[in-house]
Amino acid sequence: MSDSGSGELRAWWRSAAIYQIYPRSFADGDGDGVGDLAGVRARLPYLAELGVDAVWFSPWYASPQADAGYDVSDYRAIDPVFGTLAEAEQLIREAHGLGIRIIIDVVPNHCSDQHPWFREAIEAGPSSAARDLFWFRPGRGPGGELPPNGWQSIFGGPAWTRTNNPDGTPGEWYLHLFAAEQPDLNWENPKVREEFEDVLRFWFDRGADGVRIDSAALLVKDGELPDFDEAEPPVPHPYTDRDEVHEVYRTWRALADSYPEPRALIGEVWLPDAQRFAAYLRPDEIHTAFNFAFLGCPWEADALREVIDETVAVHAPVGAPATWVLSNHDVPRHVTRYGRADTSFNLDHRQLGAPTDLALGTRRARAATLLSLALPGSVYIYQGEELGLEEIEDIPDELRQDPMFFRTHGANLGRDGCRVPLPWEGDESPFGFSPPGATSEPWLPQRESWRTLTAQAQATDPSSMLSLYRRALKIRRETPGLGDGPMRWLAAPDGVLAFTRGDRFAVVANLSGKGFDPAEAGADHRILLSSDPAYTAGELPPDTAVWLETA
Ligand code: NOJ
Repeated sequence: MSDSGSGELRAWWRSAAIYQIYPRSFADGDGDGVGDLAGVRARLPYLAELGVDAVWFSPWYASPQADAGYDVSDYRAIDPVFGTLAEAEQLIREAHGLGIRIIIDVVPNHCSDQHPWFREAIEAGPSSAARDLFWFRPGRGPGGELPPNGWQSIFGGPAWTRTNNPDGTPGEWYLHLFAAEQPDLNWENPKVREEFEDVLRFWFDRGADGVRIDSAALLVKDGELPDFDEAEPPVPHPYTDRDEVHEVYRTWRALADSYPEPRALIGEVWLPDAQRFAAYLRPDEIHTAFNFAFLGCPWEADALREVIDETVAVHAPVGAPATWVLSNHDVPRHVTRYGRADTSFNLDHRQLGAPTDLALGTRRARAATLLSLALPGSVYIYQGEELGLEEIEDIPDELRQDPMFFRTHGANLGRDGCRVPLPWEGDESPFGFSPPGATSEPWLPQRESWRTLTAQAQATDPSSMLSLYRRALKIRRETPGLGDGPMRWLAAPDGVLAFTRGDRFAVVANLSGKGFDPAEAGADHRILLSSDPAYTAGELPPDTAVWLETA
C-alpha cells in the first residue's frame, strides 16, 4: 500500500500504545464512590509518566447505566455521574497538552431504552415512523404472547421484550441483542445512519482523535429475522457480519479522513473467521480492530506463534496494522487467566472461579507484556493491568452490577471482577480511588491485599509491574524498529518465541519448562529489559521474556 495524501502509513494509531479507561473505576474526583472525569484529569500526569500515546474511554455519555454506560440515552452529553461536556472538552485539551490522544467509545448497535427515540417509539405505537428506528414486531401465537423469533440475547435470555400499548394492553416486542434496556437500532433506516455521522462529527469537532466502535459487526440484521441453529449458524449470519455493514464504515471512513488530521476508526469485531475480520480493515473502512484471537490464546508457544503469524498474514493484504490486547473490561484479567491450568479464554469459556496460581499468573503476565509490546502494530493496555491486578471473583452477589450476571441468574458471574476501582495509594480502601472525606465506598469492593499493588507503592519499586510497563513503554517509543513494521522469527527450540524488530532489537520469550540461553537464538546482545527482575545473564528461566539490543 502506498502512503496516501493523509500520511496513512505514518498514522499514529499504527504504532500507538493505547490505555483503556473504564471511567467508573479509574479515579473518583467527587467522592461518590464512582470514577469520574475530575478523577481522570487529576491522574493525567500518571498516564503521561506511564508513557501511553492515547487513551480510549469506555462510554462517558448520559446513560441510565444499565450496562455501565453501554446503554446511551444522549450521545452528545456526559453523564452527570462523570461530569459535564465542558469538563470533557477540558480533559481533551489537557490530554493533548501532555501529548496524549483521546479515543471515545461510540455505541451504534443499540441505545438506551431511555433514549428519546425509544421513548417516542413506545408512545407512538405500532407502524409509526418512530418505531421504524428500532426492531418492533408483533409476537407469535394467538395473542402475540411469544417472541417474534427465538434469537437469544448475548447476555442470556431471549433477545426480545414485550411492550405495552399506550392503552396498557400487551403490545409489540422489540429486539435487543444485549440487555432489555438496550434496544437495537435499525440501520436500514437512513435517519439512524445520519444521526451517527452527526455524533461522530460532534466529537471529532471537539478534538476526539478517534472512536472505538462497539459491537461493530452486529449493526445490520436480516430483515426477515429468521430463526437459526445457534450451534451451527448459517452463512451469512442473520445479524453478525452482514455485507451491508461495510457501507456504514465506508461512509465513516470518508468522514474520519476528511479532517486535516484524520481520526482513527477502531473496531470491536468479535469474529472467529480471520478473512471476514480483515474485510473490515480494507483501505476504505475501519483503520484497526481488536485482536481477540491473541487475547484468547493460551499461554503456549506454538499456539501464540500461530496466532501471531495469522494476525500478521491477515493484516498484510489490507495494509492495516495489527493490534495486541491482553485484557479489557469484558474479560477476566490476564494475571488470573494465566495462573489457571487452562490458560485459554473465549466468551463462552470464561472459567470464572477456576483455581488460579496468582504468582505464576503474574510471572507470565510480565512476560506477556514484553511479548505483546514488541509485536508489530499497536497495543492496548486495560487500566490496572500495569499494576498487575487480578480478577476479583468473590464479589458478593448483592453488590454485583453486570446485567450478564442477572440475565443468566448467576450462572455467568459476568464482568464485575475486572471492573473493581483502581488502588492508587495508601494502606486501605479506597486506596486513593476516592478523595479523603468521600461520602460512599468504591462502587465495587477493593481487595485488602491491593495495599502492595497501589500505584504509589509500585512507583518507587524497580521490580514492580508498574516499573516494568514504564520502562517497556519508554524503550518501545525510543526504539525505531518497534511499533508498526516487519518482524522476523529467529530459530529457537520448542517452547521459545524469539523474533527481531528492526536492525538491533530482539525479544526472547521462554514458555518452555526449562531454562534457555538467549545467546542461542541470536548473536551478541545487551539486555535492555527482562520480565524477571532477577535475571541478568545466562539461562532465561521459564515464563520469562527479555528484550535485547543486538550487535
Ligand atoms: C461490547 C462492550 O465491550 C461491552 O462492555 C458491552 O456490554 C456490549 N458491547 C454491549 O454494548
